[in-house]
Amino acid sequence: MGWPVVRVEHVETCLGQTVVVRGWLAQRRSSGKVHFLQVRDGSGTIQCVMGARDVAPELFALADHLPQESAVEVVGVVRSDPRSPLGFELGVTGLRVISTPTAEFPISPKEHGTAFLLEHRHLWLRSARQHAILRIRAEVIRACREYLDSHGFLAFDAPILTPAACEGTTTLFPVDYFGEQAFLTQSGQLYGEAGALAFGKIYVFGPTFRAEKSKTRRHLTEFWMVEPEMAFADLEADMDLAEDFLEHVVQSVLRTRRRELAVLGRDTALLERVRKPFPRIAYAEAISLLQDRGLGVQFGDDLGGDEETVLSAAFDRPVMVHRYPLALKAFYMKADPQDPRLALCVDVLAPEGYGEVIGGGQREDDLVTLEARIAEHGLPRDAFEWYLDLRRFGSAPHAGFGMGIERCVAWLCGIHHVRETIPFPRLLERLRP
Ligand code: 4AD
Ligand code: MG
Repeated sequence: MGWPVVRVEHVETCLGQTVVVRGWLAQRRSSGKVHFLQVRDGSGTIQCVMGARDVAPELFALADHLPQESAVEVVGVVRSDPRSPLGFELGVTGLRVISTPTAEFPISPKEHGTAFLLEHRHLWLRSARQHAILRIRAEVIRACREYLDSHGFLAFDAPILTPAACEGTTTLFPVDYFGEQAFLTQSGQLYGEAGALAFGKIYVFGPTFRAEKSKTRRHLTEFWMVEPEMAFADLEADMDLAEDFLEHVVQSVLRTRRRELAVLGRDTALLERVRKPFPRIAYAEAISLLQDRGLGVQFGDDLGGDEETVLSAAFDRPVMVHRYPLALKAFYMKADPQDPRLALCVDVLAPEGYGEVIGGGQREDDLVTLEARIAEHGLPRDAFEWYLDLRRFGSAPHAGFGMGIERCVAWLCGIHHVRETIPFPRLLERLRP
């Protein structure tokens, strides 16, 4: 087959030419004299029209029985077809079957339960909806890196195997490290702080792990986080960065992934509104707002999924809730000098009940205070000596945040559960496939 191989997403550049498309048979129907083969190559799906007189009779007969998910190489002429969603079809002149399935494809267009689909995740990934979600995920990741790379942040990788906790000791995954106790990282932040005090502005981007015992629609045990960290920055600068960054990510997805958002039936008007400035409210104001709406919360309570949903419903764009009680937060948070009961922290809550997508704040930069907090939290001092060095040598105000990629993608896609936003989700009750 000496013809050029073309990806379906690029067929429009080959109108009238003979090309090769390599992919998998998604669907097939026949009128007797003509077979209509829907071939999916991962970049799109194209209808391949095979007339009885265009190919050898054996090939025409073979095509009439090709099972779904046969791997094929189709040769044909690109024609415009205004009726198809793609706008083009292939007039088939040749077909080579690379492989045929050994059994019936387990996923049919009929409804399957989620457990069944998750069990067959390796095959479920081939469906149009999963393509749309994972292409949006890829764009979110690209846009995060684009923003940070072009705003002076150095890509700075943190280790996955770590000797100590960052986000509390209850969600650690232990690992036996040659006889020593190690853990999978919960967040790259502590290493990111070393990076910020070395390079000024960095970001960590990688997988993070939490042994979350919760079965909510927002929790995975393995998820990806992007964590910018800046030296000489306070909470205000951190909030400015969070809103500028998030606006960029959302607007990039709207610009480049219209088709995928349409496949998901996403109401994009709600995303268009994601423009800065985002409202900023103190935790104390959030508590009053929730009380006004009849929720039984009090100052000092943490905000759970239900509270976040009510709060975010009060605004038409992401809302930044700052200055939670210090007692609710991790050991590294800096206390507010105006009111030491409060932490200089911020959570960004996505609209439409998607809850916290970003968490961060200003870090404790005073050596003595930080030593005391490590002790109060019952953390092993030895494991944090290197981290304390950052306060011994060139300590400066610094701040950063982490955005969970899957929460962000679930929100942008408008889908209920984070499990579909990552190729192979890891959940409380799921380690396979
Ligand atoms: O609020 P978190 O726990 O903050 C940190 O880990 C900080 N060290 C980040 C930093 O300041 N550099 O987590 C940050 C974000 C959350 O807002 C949420 O989007 C996501 O990570 N996240 C999860 N996503 C999916 N499943 C989970 N179990 C998650 N836990 C947190
Ligand atoms: Mg948080």
